[in-house]
Amino acid sequence: MNTFVLHGNIVHTPALSELKLCTDSYAVCENGLCAGVFDVLPEKFSHLPVYDFGDMIIIPGYVDLHLHAPQYQNCGLGMDMELLDWLEAQTFPTEARFADISYADMEYTRFVEDLLKSATTRACVFGTIHKESTMLLMEKLEASGLCSMVGKVSMDRNCPDNLKEDDSAAALESVESWLDEIDGRFSSTAPIITPRFVPSCSNELLEGLGVLSERHNLPIQSHLSENLSEIDWVQELCPDCPNYASVYDKFGLMGDRTIMAHCVHLTEDEMDIIHDRGTYIAHCPTSNVNIRSGIAPVRKFLDRGLNVGLGTDVSGGHTLDMAEVIRQALGLSKLLWRLGSEEFKPLKTVEAFYLATRGGGSFFGKVGAFEPGYEFDAVVIDDRDINTRGEQDLEKRFEKIIYLSSSWNVCAKFVAGRRLF
Ligand code: GUN
Ligand code: FE
Repeated sequence: MNTFVLHGNIVHTPALSELKLCTDSYAVCENGLCAGVFDVLPEKFSHLPVYDFGDMIIIPGYVDLHLHAPQYQNCGLGMDMELLDWLEAQTFPTEARFADISYADMEYTRFVEDLLKSATTRACVFGTIHKESTMLLMEKLEASGLCSMVGKVSMDRNCPDNLKEDDSAAALESVESWLDEIDGRFSSTAPIITPRFVPSCSNELLEGLGVLSERHNLPIQSHLSENLSEIDWVQELCPDCPNYASVYDKFGLMGDRTIMAHCVHLTEDEMDIIHDRGTYIAHCPTSNVNIRSGIAPVRKFLDRGLNVGLGTDVSGGHTLDMAEVIRQALGLSKLLWRLGSEEFKPLKTVEAFYLATRGGGSFFGKVGAFEPGYEFDAVVIDDRDINTRGEQDLEKRFEKIIYLSSSWNVCAKFVAGRRLF
């Protein structure tokens, strides 16, 4: 069932600045893995079923490396505030409602339906502090066929009473019982340790989560250096640490299976830590614009060899649509070059596409390209409504998809060799 052939115009990125355009070609999926892309289908695959997408464009799915499922309903709300006010006024009250499982059921149903329809194939998702609601989110994601990592959020200080775990012991116990209860239940939905961010996690909690991640061999996701007031606050809370990244590092939370969202205002020393540990940066440009966090120097990250992917950061980001995130990553990189320094060469279209596919995909393993041995993720784009002049050149059609497409253009999706629709 997960051995088949796709026919269409296949586009992916063999390297950061390299776009591979395969017109009228065949991508072969064998047992969920890509066996290659061919302009003439080899004889040995000729017996396989073919999904023929004609003149449509087939891309690897997008990987959303950072978003908050409970915040989906807030998309577009509270966008006149900066991070800390926005958390208090907009975000924490919404997340507190997920103590009610029937509310969570309604909200997470809509979230997963819309994520499924989008061009995203994989995502690293924050839930809330609530174990039951988070498990429900995991069930819904699993049923959708999408691949995801989902975190029950941990937070034990500096948050409202109705969204605060009693203390570090209670917060850690909740993570352990969550891990126990989901053990063996899911195949494409994995747990990820999720301290919200330093201001809302005591040292004891961060330390305990580092131990749990090590003991259970689990990845980690959190926020780092998003907003200037947040950074000042971390300095006050942790006067013994030289910088924000070193707080996570001290507790064993910075590794090559860690994603840190934002990283807008990193110091050189923090970039060294991220480089040495192999930590992933989730660049979230829509969010960084909306809540005025700043412009992350993505070119510098890439020049330094850091691991970078893209995230929607719903609902700091206003949309689940990764194409919009790609556009804003491009736009912000152009502004940083113009307003800042020529050292920050703007991102090219192909580079931002790479970050949204292979860049974040590598956090999941061999994901984000049509190369032999890669997990077979594919999204079929019908570009007829944006390619109104009937352009034939595949590169130009690709550029239009990056700048003009949305979830509406997605007409089929495959994840790890399974057709979702
Ligand atoms: N920092 C801590 N929590 C959050 C959140 O929910 N969204 C964003 N953008 N930043 C955060
Ligand atoms: Fe976030």
